[in-house]
Amino acid sequence: MPHLHIDVFQPLQLPAREGEVVFGFIATSRGEGGESLISTRFKGREFFILHKKSGEKHLLKSDKITRPSPNFLVKHALLAYAKHSHATIIDSNVDNASENVHLKTHDALKSVDYFASDFPTGREIRLEVGFGSARHLLHQASTNPDVLFIALEIHKPSIEQALKQITIQNLNNIMILDYDARLFLEFVPSNTLSRIYVHFPVPWDKKPHRRVIGDTFVTEAIRTLAPQGRLELRTDSENYYRFALETYSHPPHVSFEVRKNQEIAVTSKYEDRWKKMEKNIYDVTLINDLISPEKKLEGDFSFTQSSINDGILPTLERQTFRRDWGFLNAEASFMIGEGGWMLRLAMGSFDRPEHLYLIVQNGKARYFPTQPVRSSANLSAHILLNELLNG
Ligand SMILES: C[S@@+](CC[C@H](N)C(=O)[O-])C[C@H]1O[C@@H](n2cnc3c(N)ncnc32)[C@H](O)[C@@H]1O
Repeated sequence: MPHLHIDVFQPLQLPAREGEVVFGFIATSRGEGGESLISTRFKGREFFILHKKSGEKHLLKSDKITRPSPNFLVKHALLAYAKHSHATIIDSNVDNASENVHLKTHDALKSVDYFASDFPTGREIRLEVGFGSARHLLHQASTNPDVLFIALEIHKPSIEQALKQITIQNLNNIMILDYDARLFLEFVPSNTLSRIYVHFPVPWDKKPHRRVIGDTFVTEAIRTLAPQGRLELRTDSENYYRFALETYSHPPHVSFEVRKNQEIAVTSKYEDRWKKMEKNIYDVTLINDLISPEKKLEGDFSFTQSSINDGILPTLERQTFRRDWGFLNAEASFMIGEGGWMLRLAMGSFDRPEHLYLIVQNGKARYFPTQPVRSSANLSAHILLNELLNG
């Protein structure tokens, strides 16, 4: 995670600009530890830089919830803050590398809004979950130029590596998204995908609820797969293989195939490693046989009140509201410099919570850095939040 230590933390006169980086406002935590968050806008992305006192020094790093991809954005913003505030950098892991040219010249990296507002249509679409080294993704995309590959990964260095290869190989049929696959399927229209690849997912043997494959994921996979579409799990983990078989056997209108030690055209880094250790490799494939109705979601994320009393926000701090659809939790509250309050929220479904901020200034509320993903649990959490803000 990019970070730097500076000698003195100078709050800036805000808003402030250093080159292309704009700092908007500062929000200070009311809790112990005294962290503050500086809103930052750079290259069309909004995120927070986090400041914390660390012994005699001051730590600047990116806030986990709003951290943008690629890392270059954070690195550049951290250096811009240090420069604008005339701070001396004591130590850092931030290089002054310029923007990765592959990210500049290629538009394969998409944001979730891209899919939420206008999901691509008109050609065969396959999804790859957790592409890692991207060997399988790149191989599939280059051998199937008419197919569009939507590729999800939450590990930022893997995303940067994949983008680099996409540019070098000049592939134009891959869309990369930095997003949790378990959340993403909600945006996919019904009966759309021909394949979903989940190759060598993290086994999470001690925390099975964190696995990509689970009841909700499989239900959503069946909805989004076209008839005869396939959800392909490849794993070296016997536990995961058994768990997937069990999970696939619940829903009706599906069949499944199991294969052991099947050779495929391209092997991943993980597969090479397991093969050297002579581990078995399992393929567990679910085949959908259903035409699913279109998913309809009512509502949006607007706030209905004409003027919100921002004093209500700190009273919600550390409160959790549990409901049938999921929950809403106000983790921490922050005061905003020029007036206003902010809450750090976790909301939505228990196994796929959304983490973001709510800002109330001048009686108006907004989510930061973007609205929640338009899922049914998030819409329910928003209705509850709206009611709470009404007092
Ligand atoms: C063990 S690696 C396997 C990578 C690659 N598929 C291969 O076969 O080499 C699992 C990858 O899944 C990613 N991952 C884990 N959970 C994920 C999720 N919920 N959504 C998207 N990617 C995820 C991890 O970041 C990691 O890169």
